[in-house]
Amino acid sequence: MQTRACDSLFQTQLALPGRRAGKVRDLYSLPAEQGAPRMLLVATDRISAFDVVMPTPIPGKGRLLTTISAGWFGLIRRANLVGDHVLSLDVPVCGGIDPAQRDALEGRTMVCRAAQVVPIECVARGYLAGSGWSEYCAAQQVCGVPLPRGLRQCERLPEPIFTPATKAAEGHDENISFARAAAVVGSSLMERLRDLTLRIYSLAAEHALACGLILADTKFEFGFELAPDGRPTDRLLLVDEVLTPDSSRYWPLDGYEAGHDQQSFDKQFLRNWLLELVASGRWDKTPPGPEIPAEVVDGTAARYREALTRLFGSRSPADLLRR
Ligand SMILES: Nc1ncnc2c1ncn2[C@@H]1O[C@H](COP(=O)(O)OP(=O)(O)O)[C@@H](O)[C@H]1O
Ligand SMILES: [Mg+2]
Repeated sequence: MQTRACDSLFQTQLALPGRRAGKVRDLYSLPAEQGAPRMLLVATDRISAFDVVMPTPIPGKGRLLTTISAGWFGLIRRANLVGDHVLSLDVPVCGGIDPAQRDALEGRTMVCRAAQVVPIECVARGYLAGSGWSEYCAAQQVCGVPLPRGLRQCERLPEPIFTPATKAAEGHDENISFARAAAVVGSSLMERLRDLTLRIYSLAAEHALACGLILADTKFEFGFELAPDGRPTDRLLLVDEVLTPDSSRYWPLDGYEAGHDQQSFDKQFLRNWLLELVASGRWDKTPPGPEIPAEVVDGTAARYREALTRLFGSRSPADLLRR
């Protein structure tokens, strides 16, 4: 396993089949249990911005993401909204993971039900930020959803909206209309996904607000659980990470004011530093990303830690996941 800074994990090479690396997670196949295909998701300390993985890890980020996801999966389970893919947060005991690797993996792993992932990113927005704000400025709508005139940057929307995006295997995701998403995966499935996305967003935004955080927007992925023969069943699951600072925008409620960019507990701190490089011609948003200086690494880690503490205190992941 390749570690770069003290107690940070950049990448794994476990002796398990089916290895695949996302921008942040390393994925492996696990032996099926009771016939159900399973996989192992390892959250590393990699960070991506503008879809480029940075060469510098954020120490501890993978653990923070796993704990935050656990907290939200627990909350969503208790609300009985939808099944999810999480089976266990313990490092699995199996031949491909030797004892020396366990410490580095502790707190970063999710043993999951393998799913056929729906190739649409399910985005909910309660506030006008990021690509939503850009689209609104250009056309007074986001993903084909018309919005009132005169809204300001980061303003709260009259009600949360569903704004799907393509899930690009390579390159950038693209915001699309509901109709285009429906043409890809079917309108009845899209209606179900829209409904679930907005319900989970509302539940989460309410919890976040009680913790002094605005959940401006977030992205979910759903999938169909696989049968023992590897074919998708009709059981829809919430998969991937949920409601982390990587997949969501979190703003402190204290000091929130529409009309300009917000301080945030997410990747925006890193993005802003990168945008300064772009503005001065030192980076063009293509790989390789620049090495991130220590103060930006530390500032990013501190923001992710703060998000976790505000949302879920210091409870253990297993405790958070409990029904
Ligand atoms: N239960 C699951 N079954 C199959 N694939 C999954 C499951 N949960 C998450 N995934 C996939 O695993 C990957 C997670 O790794 P990540 O680093 O976040 O990737 P990405 O670069 O696509 O964001 C995503 O591509 C996601 O679609
Ligand atoms: Mg991801």
